[in-house]
Amino acid sequence: MYFAGIDIGSLATKTCIIDEEKKIIGYLIKRTTANIVEVGKETYKECLERTGLSENDIAYSIVTGYGRNLAVATLANEKITEITCHSVGAKHLFPKCHTVIDVGGQDSKAMRLDDDGKVVKFIMNDKCAAGTGRFLEVMAGALGMEMDEMIEAAFRSRNKVSITSTCTVFAESEVISLIASGNKPEDIVAGLNEAIAKRVSGLVRQVGIEDDVVMTGGVAKNRGVVKALENELNHEIKVPEEPQIVGALGAALMALKKFKE
Ligand SMILES: Nc1ncnc2c1ncn2[C@@H]1O[C@H](COP(=O)(O)OP(=O)(O)OP(=O)(O)O)[C@@H](O)[C@H]1O
Ligand SMILES: [Mg+2]
Repeated sequence: MYFAGIDIGSLATKTCIIDEEKKIIGYLIKRTTANIVEVGKETYKECLERTGLSENDIAYSIVTGYGRNLAVATLANEKITEITCHSVGAKHLFPKCHTVIDVGGQDSKAMRLDDDGKVVKFIMNDKCAAGTGRFLEVMAGALGMEMDEMIEAAFRSRNKVSITSTCTVFAESEVISLIASGNKPEDIVAGLNEAIAKRVSGLVRQVGIEDDVVMTGGVAKNRGVVKALENELNHEIKVPEEPQIVGALGAALMALKKFKE
Protein backbone atom coordinates (compact mmCIF):
# COMPACT_ATOMS: atom_id res chain seq x y z
CA MET A 1 0.00 0.00 0.00
CA TYR A 2 1.20 3.49 -0.89
CA PHE A 3 0.24 7.04 0.08
CA ALA A 4 0.45 10.24 -1.91
CA GLY A 5 0.86 13.89 -1.01
CA ILE A 6 0.40 16.61 -3.60
CA ASP A 7 1.46 20.18 -2.83
CA ILE A 8 0.15 22.68 -5.39
CA GLY A 9 2.21 25.77 -4.61
CA SER A 10 1.99 29.12 -6.34
CA LEU A 11 5.23 28.52 -8.27
CA ALA A 12 5.80 24.77 -8.13
CA THR A 13 3.65 21.64 -7.80
CA LYS A 14 5.15 18.73 -5.92
CA THR A 15 4.05 15.09 -5.54
CA CYS A 16 5.58 12.68 -3.04
CA ILE A 17 4.73 9.00 -2.66
CA ILE A 18 5.58 6.96 0.44
CA ASP A 19 5.11 3.34 1.48
CA GLU A 20 3.62 1.99 4.71
CA GLU A 21 7.02 2.31 6.40
CA LYS A 22 7.03 6.07 5.60
CA LYS A 23 9.85 5.57 3.13
CA ILE A 24 9.87 7.94 0.13
CA ILE A 25 9.28 5.88 -3.02
CA GLY A 26 9.35 8.78 -5.45
CA TYR A 27 8.72 12.48 -5.92
CA LEU A 28 8.32 14.99 -8.71
CA ILE A 29 8.47 18.78 -8.97
CA LYS A 30 6.87 20.75 -11.83
CA ARG A 31 6.35 24.45 -12.43
CA THR A 32 2.75 25.47 -11.58
CA THR A 33 0.80 26.79 -14.56
CA ALA A 34 -2.42 28.83 -14.73
CA ASN A 35 -4.37 25.56 -14.85
CA ILE A 36 -3.62 24.42 -11.31
CA VAL A 37 -5.95 21.43 -11.27
CA GLU A 38 -4.39 20.10 -14.47
CA VAL A 39 -0.81 20.58 -13.25
CA GLY A 40 -1.74 18.80 -10.02
CA LYS A 41 -3.07 15.83 -11.99
CA GLU A 42 -0.08 15.77 -14.35
CA THR A 43 2.47 15.86 -11.54
CA TYR A 44 0.64 13.08 -9.69
CA LYS A 45 0.30 10.87 -12.81
CA GLU A 46 3.89 11.40 -13.90
CA CYS A 47 5.17 10.64 -10.41
CA LEU A 48 3.16 7.39 -10.40
CA GLU A 49 4.55 6.43 -13.80
CA ARG A 50 8.13 7.08 -12.73
CA THR A 51 7.73 4.98 -9.60
CA GLY A 52 6.05 2.17 -11.56
CA LEU A 53 2.79 2.49 -9.64
CA SER A 54 -0.82 3.04 -10.73
CA GLU A 55 -3.58 5.05 -9.05
CA ASN A 56 -4.99 1.78 -7.65
CA ASP A 57 -1.84 1.32 -5.57
CA ILE A 58 -2.52 4.55 -3.68
CA ALA A 59 -4.60 3.81 -0.59
CA TYR A 60 -5.11 7.45 0.41
CA SER A 61 -4.03 10.85 -0.86
CA ILE A 62 -3.95 14.38 0.45
CA VAL A 63 -3.58 17.67 -1.40
CA THR A 64 -2.11 20.81 0.14
CA GLY A 65 -0.82 24.19 -1.02
CA TYR A 66 -2.63 27.19 -2.42
CA GLY A 67 -4.32 25.08 -5.11
CA ARG A 68 -5.80 22.56 -2.67
CA ASN A 69 -9.35 23.94 -2.51
CA LEU A 70 -9.78 23.90 -6.26
CA ALA A 71 -8.11 20.53 -6.80
CA VAL A 72 -9.36 18.40 -3.92
CA ALA A 73 -12.60 17.21 -5.54
CA THR A 74 -10.91 15.61 -8.55
CA LEU A 75 -7.40 14.91 -7.26
CA ALA A 76 -7.27 13.59 -3.70
CA ASN A 77 -9.22 12.14 -0.77
CA GLU A 78 -8.70 15.18 1.43
CA LYS A 79 -7.07 18.58 1.69
CA ILE A 80 -4.91 19.85 4.56
CA THR A 81 -3.21 23.23 5.10
CA GLU A 82 0.44 23.80 4.22
CA ILE A 83 1.13 24.84 7.81
CA THR A 84 0.32 21.31 9.01
CA CYS A 85 1.95 19.52 6.07
CA HIS A 86 5.29 21.37 6.27
CA SER A 87 5.38 20.84 10.03
CA VAL A 88 4.64 17.11 9.77
CA GLY A 89 7.24 16.70 7.02
CA ALA A 90 9.92 18.64 8.90
CA LYS A 91 9.26 16.79 12.18
CA HIS A 92 9.51 13.44 10.35
CA LEU A 93 12.90 14.33 8.85
CA PHE A 94 14.23 16.03 12.01
CA PRO A 95 12.50 14.49 15.07
CA LYS A 96 13.88 17.23 17.36
CA CYS A 97 12.39 19.99 15.18
CA HIS A 98 10.59 22.76 17.10
CA THR A 99 10.78 25.60 14.56
CA VAL A 100 9.89 25.40 10.86
CA ILE A 101 10.63 28.13 8.31
CA ASP A 102 8.95 27.63 4.91
CA VAL A 103 9.99 30.06 2.21
CA GLY A 104 8.18 29.35 -1.03
CA GLY A 105 7.58 31.25 -4.21
CA GLN A 106 4.82 33.53 -3.02
CA ASP A 107 4.77 33.49 0.75
CA SER A 108 6.92 32.81 3.77
CA LYS A 109 5.85 31.21 7.03
CA ALA A 110 7.24 30.39 10.44
CA MET A 111 5.80 27.66 12.66
CA ARG A 112 6.53 26.74 16.23
CA LEU A 113 5.97 23.10 17.25
CA ASP A 114 5.63 21.48 20.67
CA ASP A 115 7.47 18.25 21.58
CA ASP A 116 4.76 16.18 19.87
CA GLY A 117 5.05 18.16 16.64
CA LYS A 118 1.76 20.00 17.12
CA VAL A 119 1.74 23.54 15.70
CA VAL A 120 1.35 25.89 18.67
CA LYS A 121 2.08 29.16 16.88
CA PHE A 122 2.47 30.27 13.27
CA ILE A 123 2.83 33.43 11.29
CA MET A 124 2.60 34.01 7.56
CA ASN A 125 3.60 36.74 5.15
CA ASP A 126 1.41 36.44 2.06
CA LYS A 127 0.76 40.10 1.40
CA CYS A 128 4.08 41.04 -0.10
CA ALA A 129 6.67 39.43 -2.40
CA ALA A 130 9.65 40.63 -0.34
CA GLY A 131 10.93 37.72 1.72
CA THR A 132 9.88 35.10 -0.85
CA GLY A 133 11.31 33.24 -3.82
CA ARG A 134 9.55 35.64 -6.15
CA PHE A 135 11.71 38.49 -4.80
CA LEU A 136 14.87 36.57 -5.74
CA GLU A 137 13.49 35.64 -9.16
CA VAL A 138 12.72 39.28 -9.95
CA MET A 139 16.23 40.29 -8.84
CA ALA A 140 17.85 37.51 -10.86
CA GLY A 141 16.05 38.97 -13.88
CA ALA A 142 17.29 42.49 -13.09
CA LEU A 143 20.86 41.18 -12.69
CA GLY A 144 20.59 39.05 -15.85
CA MET A 145 21.63 35.98 -13.85
CA GLU A 146 20.38 32.42 -13.58
CA MET A 147 19.38 31.38 -10.05
CA ASP A 148 22.39 29.01 -9.81
CA GLU A 149 24.79 31.83 -10.73
CA MET A 150 23.13 34.07 -8.18
CA ILE A 151 23.64 31.48 -5.41
CA GLU A 152 27.34 31.11 -6.23
CA ALA A 153 27.87 34.86 -6.61
CA ALA A 154 26.91 35.63 -3.00
CA PHE A 155 29.87 33.58 -1.75
CA ARG A 156 32.33 35.71 -3.76
CA SER A 157 31.13 38.96 -2.21
CA ARG A 158 33.71 40.90 -0.19
CA ASN A 159 31.81 44.16 0.10
CA LYS A 160 28.08 43.59 0.61
CA VAL A 161 25.80 46.38 -0.63
CA SER A 162 22.92 47.34 1.63
CA ILE A 163 19.51 47.23 -0.09
CA THR A 164 17.35 49.96 1.44
CA SER A 165 14.01 49.38 -0.35
CA THR A 166 11.71 46.96 1.41
CA CYS A 167 9.29 46.69 -1.54
CA THR A 168 10.16 44.27 -4.37
CA VAL A 169 9.29 46.76 -7.10
CA PHE A 170 11.43 49.52 -5.55
CA ALA A 171 14.22 47.08 -4.72
CA GLU A 172 14.32 46.07 -8.41
CA SER A 173 14.85 49.73 -9.41
CA GLU A 174 17.47 50.02 -6.69
CA VAL A 175 19.33 47.00 -8.08
CA ILE A 176 19.29 48.51 -11.57
CA SER A 177 20.75 51.77 -10.18
CA LEU A 178 23.37 49.85 -8.20
CA ILE A 179 24.47 48.02 -11.36
CA ALA A 180 24.59 51.34 -13.25
CA SER A 181 26.76 52.92 -10.57
CA GLY A 182 29.32 50.15 -10.89
CA ASN A 183 28.63 47.88 -7.91
CA LYS A 184 29.74 44.29 -8.37
CA PRO A 185 26.87 41.84 -9.01
CA GLU A 186 28.07 39.55 -6.19
CA ASP A 187 27.94 42.41 -3.69
CA ILE A 188 24.38 43.23 -4.79
CA VAL A 189 23.37 39.57 -4.45
CA ALA A 190 24.82 39.41 -0.94
CA GLY A 191 22.76 42.51 -0.07
CA LEU A 192 19.62 40.91 -1.52
CA ASN A 193 20.18 37.75 0.53
CA GLU A 194 20.54 39.89 3.62
CA ALA A 195 17.32 41.76 2.75
CA ILE A 196 15.30 38.54 2.39
CA ALA A 197 16.91 37.14 5.58
CA LYS A 198 15.89 40.25 7.52
CA ARG A 199 12.29 39.84 6.39
CA VAL A 200 12.10 36.14 7.20
CA SER A 201 13.95 36.42 10.52
CA GLY A 202 11.31 38.94 11.65
CA LEU A 203 8.66 36.24 11.19
CA VAL A 204 10.76 33.59 12.93
CA ARG A 205 11.35 35.79 15.97
CA GLN A 206 7.62 36.27 16.33
CA VAL A 207 7.03 32.54 16.83
CA GLY A 208 10.23 32.07 18.86
CA ILE A 209 13.32 30.06 18.05
CA GLU A 210 13.86 26.61 19.49
CA ASP A 211 16.07 23.78 18.16
CA ASP A 212 16.00 22.15 15.72
CA VAL A 213 15.27 24.98 13.34
CA VAL A 214 14.36 23.44 9.96
CA MET A 215 13.97 25.34 6.70
CA THR A 216 11.65 24.00 3.98
CA GLY A 217 10.44 25.27 0.60
CA GLY A 218 12.34 25.87 -2.61
CA VAL A 219 14.28 28.88 -1.31
CA ALA A 220 15.99 26.60 1.24
CA LYS A 221 17.98 25.30 -1.76
CA ASN A 222 19.62 28.71 -1.97
CA ARG A 223 22.69 28.26 0.29
CA GLY A 224 23.35 31.99 0.27
CA VAL A 225 19.91 32.79 1.68
CA VAL A 226 20.20 30.03 4.32
CA LYS A 227 23.61 31.40 5.39
CA ALA A 228 22.27 34.97 5.54
CA LEU A 229 19.32 33.78 7.62
CA GLU A 230 21.64 31.89 9.98
CA ASN A 231 23.62 35.11 10.43
CA GLU A 232 20.46 37.16 11.09
CA LEU A 233 19.09 34.65 13.61
CA ASN A 234 22.51 33.79 15.00
CA HIS A 235 21.31 30.20 14.94
CA GLU A 236 22.00 27.01 13.01
CA ILE A 237 19.40 26.02 10.40
CA LYS A 238 18.91 22.44 9.26
CA VAL A 239 17.98 21.93 5.61
CA PRO A 240 16.53 18.62 4.36
CA GLU A 241 18.12 16.92 1.35
CA GLU A 242 15.20 18.08 -0.85
CA PRO A 243 13.52 20.92 1.06
CA GLN A 244 11.05 21.71 -1.71
CA ILE A 245 9.08 18.47 -1.26
CA VAL A 246 8.66 18.66 2.53
CA GLY A 247 5.04 19.90 2.23
CA ALA A 248 4.16 17.06 -0.17
CA LEU A 249 5.95 14.57 2.11
CA GLY A 250 3.97 15.87 5.10
CA ALA A 251 0.75 15.48 3.08
CA ALA A 252 1.68 11.87 2.22
CA LEU A 253 2.46 11.16 5.91
CA MET A 254 -0.91 12.65 6.87
CA ALA A 255 -2.56 10.42 4.23
CA LEU A 256 -0.98 7.37 5.89
CA LYS A 257 -2.11 8.54 9.34
CA LYS A 258 -5.68 9.28 8.24
CA PHE A 259 -5.92 5.93 6.44
CA LYS A 260 -4.81 4.02 9.55
CA GLU A 261 -7.30 5.94 11.68
N1 LIG B 1 17.63 24.91 -6.89
C1 LIG B 1 17.10 26.05 -6.45
N2 LIG B 1 17.88 27.02 -5.97
C2 LIG B 1 17.35 28.16 -5.50
N3 LIG B 1 16.06 28.45 -5.49
C3 LIG B 1 15.22 27.51 -5.95
C4 LIG B 1 15.70 26.26 -6.44
N4 LIG B 1 14.64 25.52 -6.83
C5 LIG B 1 13.56 26.28 -6.59
N5 LIG B 1 13.91 27.47 -6.07
C6 LIG B 1 13.00 28.56 -5.69
O1 LIG B 1 11.99 28.05 -4.88
C7 LIG B 1 10.79 28.78 -5.08
C8 LIG B 1 9.64 27.82 -5.15
O2 LIG B 1 9.59 27.12 -3.93
P1 LIG B 1 8.34 26.27 -3.51
O3 LIG B 1 8.10 25.19 -4.48
O4 LIG B 1 8.53 25.89 -2.09
O5 LIG B 1 7.20 27.38 -3.65
P2 LIG B 1 5.64 27.19 -3.73
O6 LIG B 1 5.24 26.10 -2.78
O7 LIG B 1 5.23 27.03 -5.15
O8 LIG B 1 5.15 28.59 -3.24
P3 LIG B 1 4.15 28.99 -2.07
O9 LIG B 1 4.36 28.01 -0.94
O10 LIG B 1 4.55 30.37 -1.71
O11 LIG B 1 2.77 28.90 -2.67
C9 LIG B 1 10.98 29.58 -6.35
O12 LIG B 1 11.02 30.95 -6.04
C10 LIG B 1 12.30 29.11 -6.91
O13 LIG B 1 13.04 30.17 -7.46
MG1 LIG C 1 4.70 26.04 -0.74
